[in-house]
Amino acid sequence: MVESGIFYGTFVDPLLTRLRMRVTAEIKQGETVIDVACGTGAQVFALANRASQVTGVDLSQSMIDFANRRLRKTDLKNLTFHTADATRLEQFGDKSFDVAAMTLALHQFDPGLYEPILSEMKRVAKRIVIVDYAVPLPKNYAGLGSRIAEFMAGGEHNHNFKLYYKTGGLNSILPKHGIKIQKSAFIAKGAFQIVTAV
Ligand SMILES: C[S@@+](CC[C@H](N)C(=O)[O-])C[C@H]1O[C@@H](n2cnc3c(N)ncnc32)[C@H](O)[C@@H]1O
Repeated sequence: MVESGIFYGTFVDPLLTRLRMRVTAEIKQGETVIDVACGTGAQVFALANRASQVTGVDLSQSMIDFANRRLRKTDLKNLTFHTADATRLEQFGDKSFDVAAMTLALHQFDPGLYEPILSEMKRVAKRIVIVDYAVPLPKNYAGLGSRIAEFMAGGEHNHNFKLYYKTGGLNSILPKHGIKIQKSAFIAKGAFQIVTAV
């Protein structure tokens, strides 16, 4: 599902600052990172001081335009944004990044796309860092807020979230697609899981 940069940048990004810092902490100083389905690039900007080079890719031209407008207002030289389909990252060579990251995006994809997306992430990077909803979601305001956000997203997004949830989230999906979880933690009052994998 392709989304609008202005909506996401205005209403969603400001809520996720701490999550961005937590993801950045998984990256070693000087590593190269590709952020897949980067949206407005909020995670890419958060990585700018830690990584030597960050590449954000998203299928939505609106998201990439939003990210590039923001980039032009900075003097950062180590970030680039490209329109690209996460299932076909053919412009990037094998193991051309230290890390392939994906934040809060896997749950919104049709499960039929998990395999091509995850295998492309494995192909282009030596390590994978993925953040997405914890399954089960906690019975607190963070869990309730997550359910409401996904209900409000509606349509295809909500349908795919339900399938993600039913499948068991990252702990179930990643091993099914040949990705070995090395490290895992629950963050944001237990609403999200952050996983480092190979
Ligand atoms: C939930 S949003 C962005 C999340 C973003 N990673 C963040 O942390 O803010 C999911 C993104 O996936 C993008 N998307 C959907 N299908 C895609 C595809 N096949 N390849 C790449 N990006 C895709 C959408 O355009 C949208 O920006």
